[in-house]
Amino acid sequence: MLRGRTLWMATGNPHKHREARIILMEYGLDLRRLETKRIEIQADDLEEIAAYSVEHIPEADSRPIVVEDAGLFIHHLKGFPGPYSSYVLKTIGLGGILKLMEGVQNREATFKSVVALRWRGETHLFVGEVQGRIATEIRGSQGFGYDPIFIPDEGDGRTFGEMTIREKNTLSHRARAFRRLALWLTSR
Ligand code: IMP
Repeated sequence: MLRGRTLWMATGNPHKHREARIILMEYGLDLRRLETKRIEIQADDLEEIAAYSVEHIPEADSRPIVVEDAGLFIHHLKGFPGPYSSYVLKTIGLGGILKLMEGVQNREATFKSVVALRWRGETHLFVGEVQGRIATEIRGSQGFGYDPIFIPDEGDGRTFGEMTIREKNTLSHRARAFRRLALWLTSR
């Protein structure tokens, strides 16, 4: 088990940290945020990006650290933007995605999260996914990133952007990945 039940998340995104911290708290784990430089490689799969990133954080030699990488895979666009989600959001934005999807019937999409834990010289990966669809307009001002255009299938028709963190945490890709991490850590 972790000493002090504490682990660190290397992220520049406070939303991600807040969501993950609430999940881990349910398992008695304390997730603190680590301000550090992260190397983000460009690769076709999130697993490779997350593992490379956590393995190049110097602080990971002395304490348990997690890095999370997420991506939105739109089926009609053959998985785009996927691992390029961050770049696409910064360039064409939500409006650009909605434009690409104009008049498209098949709006299915998968949000995927990969959590890479570096602990005692080993890397462990935990994956979470949520199926949903792309909204036809931007809805909601909560959350971040693609939240206002992603409607999870298991929800009530609202986008993640229209949900509180706790509601999003009952369904999200990130919540699922972090629950897997928590179960693994607490069962050892
Ligand atoms: P990252 O590389 O893991 O930070 O995420 C890739 C892109 O997806 C970034 O533009 C994020 O804002 C966005 N993103 C990641 N997770 C979520 C989420 O839970 N909801 C909405 N957008 C997200």
